[in-house]
Amino acid sequence: MPPDLSHAAARLAQSKRLVVLTGAGVSAESGIPTFRGPGGLWRGLDPLRLATPQAFEANPRLVWEFYNWRREIVAQAAPNPAHLAIAALEDRVPAFTLVTQNVDRLHQRAGSRDVLELHGNLQIVRCSLCDRAHDPGWTPLPALPMCDHCGGLLRPGVVWFGESLPPDILQSALNATLEADLLLVVGTSAAVYPAAGLIDVTMGAGGTVIEVNTAPTAATQRISLSLLGPAAEILPQLLASAFPSKT
Ligand code: OAD
Repeated sequence: MPPDLSHAAARLAQSKRLVVLTGAGVSAESGIPTFRGPGGLWRGLDPLRLATPQAFEANPRLVWEFYNWRREIVAQAAPNPAHLAIAALEDRVPAFTLVTQNVDRLHQRAGSRDVLELHGNLQIVRCSLCDRAHDPGWTPLPALPMCDHCGGLLRPGVVWFGESLPPDILQSALNATLEADLLLVVGTSAAVYPAAGLIDVTMGAGGTVIEVNTAPTAATQRISLSLLGPAAEILPQLLASAFPSKT
């Protein structure tokens, strides 16, 4: 086993307060495209430019086409070994918190409980007029879905650029990362705040931060250790090496 991996596994085995922070890369091996990097464009458009209230106001049909496409991909996807390893970690350490930027709910489908979803999720939709939340599951939605309560236009239940994160969820994530002795950052470019700032919260409080990613990120230089490789390979190895008798 590479020395970095065994060092990370030893650190993980000792952790009493573990936080895992995930991004789109953890679902890449489930076939869900990430936002940045190769394969990130949708019909030649940058998804990040569609993920704004302004884009929805200007062209709700186009924005819904994009989100209905993503909902379809997610509905057909399954959790991969990285999601499963993270779910298994929950029962291996005394205190565990999972914070995700992902909106695909694959962590929950892998068995993770109490997931802190910083950016909402694709399963829930909300009325852009009365704000009522609806749960249509993963069934296909009309091109322009309407609220059956007030007739307003429904919107995806995700957090768009320029919008606030759910304050209670952000606060819980801040508390957990402040108290963490180890933060495992998996498959995120660490480019979007406030999520990426959670790394600095743990670092600032003296905790260890270990990253798992296929490429260096905006955070690599300032964290404790970086493990380069696909999450679906590295996380099961980490789990097996840290907790050999329980896997
Ligand atoms: P990004 O698309 O910015 O980054 C994905 C990261 O995953 C990159 O650092 C890749 O190198 C890495 N990666 C790709 N495949 C991987 C694999 N198999 N194993 C491990 N790592 C892999 O996605 P996020 O960081 O999640 O927000 O993006 C953050 C936010 O920006 C998203 O939640 C979304 C987006 O705009 C909103 O929509 C509000």
